[in-house]
Amino acid sequence: MTPSAPDSEPRSGRAAYDPDCLLQCPTPAGWLPVALGDLDALLIDHAGCEQKAAAAALTLLGKNPEDRVFVETLSHLAQEEMRHFDLVFRLVLGRGATLRPLSVDPYVRDLLAIIRKGRIEGLIDRLLMAALIEARSHERFQLLAAGLPAGPERDLYEELIPPEAGHAALFVALAERVGSKADVRVRLSQVAAHEATVIAALGEAPEARIHG
Ligand SMILES: [Fe+2]
Ligand SMILES: [Fe+2]
Repeated sequence: MTPSAPDSEPRSGRAAYDPDCLLQCPTPAGWLPVALGDLDALLIDHAGCEQKAAAAALTLLGKNPEDRVFVETLSHLAQEEMRHFDLVFRLVLGRGATLRPLSVDPYVRDLLAIIRKGRIEGLIDRLLMAALIEARSHERFQLLAAGLPAGPERDLYEELIPPEAGHAALFVALAERVGSKADVRVRLSQVAAHEATVIAALGEAPEARIHG
């Protein structure tokens, strides 16, 4: 099952969560050639991203355990992210490569630097930052699918584009279960502006990574 935005949320609201509308700047032009230049490194990093996404979903699940929809949504998401991990892991193995120990992702580290104190505010921030990470991944999967030649790598990215779009919307909808829609909307634009500054500060990608 593909997790989607919680059922209690009106479908008409989902267009506002189009992942391409969440992002306030495009990926720098230099990212794609670096990513395509070392597909082993890119896929190894990608496997780590899926593993971290599953772990993050489980951590978030534990921060609002009284809300059944919140828990069910993140439980399903964690399982889906691990299915993605398995797809990427199989591809890494098929290329004769192996995984490496997880490393700090500078993009995620810098994005999380503005989390507010307080249980509710902190949880809303983490959910909105997760939405931005999913939106950025969605944008980059589209770039990879368009830039790769036909083959299993391109097939993978084409397969992963729709779920990433759904995940961005899912996290915004979860934030709206924790705080008011008006507050979430204001904070979402602040977090998106911060995400754009993080992307700009990272500059040209020095190595092949999903988030640069
Ligand atoms: Fe995923
Ligand atoms: Fe995802």
